[in-house]
Amino acid sequence: MFQVENLLKDVQLTGDAVLKIQDVFLTELENGIHEKPSSLQMENTYIPELPDGTGATNFCCGSLVGYLSGTITSIRNWLRGIVVKYTSLGVPEEGLFLALDLGGTNFRVILLELYQGSVVREEVKHYHIREEQRLGCGEKLFDFLADSVSDFVRGQKLTGTRLPLGVYCSSEYKLIGTRLPLGVNCSSEYKLTGTRLPLGVYCSSEYKLTGTRLPLGFTFSFPMIQKALNIGLLVTWTKSFNCPSVVGRDAVNMLQEAINRRGDTHVEVVAILNDTTGTLVQGAVLDPRTTIGLILGTGSNACYLERADRVQHWEQQRHGEKQVIIDIEWGAFGDNGTLDFIKTDFDRIVDKNSLIANSFMFEKYIGGKYMGEIVRVILARLTKDCLLFGGETSDTLLTSGAFTTSFVSIIEQDTIDDTSENTVEILRKLGLSCDEDDVAIVKYVCEVVSNRAALLVSVCLSTLLSRQDRPDVTIAVDGSLYKYHPRLKGWMNKYIKLLAPGRKFQMLLAEDGSGKGAGLVAAIALKLRKRLQDS
Ligand code: GLC
Repeated sequence: MFQVENLLKDVQLTGDAVLKIQDVFLTELENGIHEKPSSLQMENTYIPELPDGTGATNFCCGSLVGYLSGTITSIRNWLRGIVVKYTSLGVPEEGLFLALDLGGTNFRVILLELYQGSVVREEVKHYHIREEQRLGCGEKLFDFLADSVSDFVRGQKLTGTRLPLGVYCSSEYKLIGTRLPLGVNCSSEYKLTGTRLPLGVYCSSEYKLTGTRLPLGFTFSFPMIQKALNIGLLVTWTKSFNCPSVVGRDAVNMLQEAINRRGDTHVEVVAILNDTTGTLVQGAVLDPRTTIGLILGTGSNACYLERADRVQHWEQQRHGEKQVIIDIEWGAFGDNGTLDFIKTDFDRIVDKNSLIANSFMFEKYIGGKYMGEIVRVILARLTKDCLLFGGETSDTLLTSGAFTTSFVSIIEQDTIDDTSENTVEILRKLGLSCDEDDVAIVKYVCEVVSNRAALLVSVCLSTLLSRQDRPDVTIAVDGSLYKYHPRLKGWMNKYIKLLAPGRKFQMLLAEDGSGKGAGLVAAIALKLRKRLQDS
């Protein structure tokens, strides 16, 4: 075991290293926010406030004081890119919204029904994105997204949907007893076919959503330069995507063009956001103390509510915003060399085998896409050095990606339960025969790698807590790694307390933040339009 521990010593961060990482993170964060060279993008999302627990209605009120005190021209500049079309919209935070969530190998199209700023109904459909779509021509990827949106919308019926202004569809789609606009009451023979409902919602003869104008919030979980709430230029692909022709282009525009090319739905992309932003917004609905959004899934990243006067980068004229959500993009933390002191030979191999090498290294220490792979690389090395499995490797152990992060979680659970059953079974499936010592070493490797990830995330979170300087902060978290790894939460709680002494915080699982948050942000975009229109 001594030799094993020795080989893994660089994966275990010393106290000095941890403090140094914290310093570097703060410096990079400050540089990023002041538009100085930095590995942290610190992107302005143009979302100036959070829901206060009473719903999305109040989301932008504070800033609107600012918008409204400016001239119409400056308001227009602020909302540059958002074209006012919904002339008949009265209460945009209520009604039907679409959300599209793209970030992993599956993506989802979601129909959300909002009532007074809360999600009262959610319909979801998952679509698998094939490898050639993730790595090929960008237009094709966006055509596929548009096909899926169309498939989803065509498959949705209005049955049971609460339409805006109190109009309900019965299961027979009749308007029985409904008070129509202009005070006309329907007899039992009136149906919705061809009837113009308030707020521009039309039921086709099949009572489907096809003819309905639907605003869409696009969760696009990749680094982007945001020029407005509905303009996001892709900086670089991460995780499992690499369609070269999209880099530098506006993902909203590409999606809208693809939807328009199909021409069979009335979907309009009104907002683009990152999954961390969606998680923060959804978290704030659940708990108003939420000011940090964290993703621990395939990738890792966080956003937080920053004081607006500390933010240098505003594409548009400001209108009295007091705060704004900043997407840190910490996956790239240290890509400028500032964190090379923690990079081990194992990490270098993982990076080299990854889809985009020399990029998003910090994410490769933490993300679910990589954690299993780090363990595999270490196990392969230990086997090669005859410290494991009697020096007998297997083809699977030598195959990149064969040891998934879900294995790490299962093995960690064995450690907690003081059993070895599942670990032995995993190793057997990988074609490895093991004795008790081997199992102990495999468990140890999983622990060391997982623990480093927990520590790195905690270093960054504790820095944010100190910076925000609030009496009580809730960190909204989503992502498969956080949900399924049995030890991360406990370690993070412990380390954050140590690294940000005296700071009161709690972590809150904000499930489906990227979906629900997208619906809420789409509602906000419409709310802003409405205010602009009314002003
Ligand atoms: C990657 C993306 C980032 C996203 C994160 C979590 O790091 O660049 O935008 O938030 O993955 O999905």
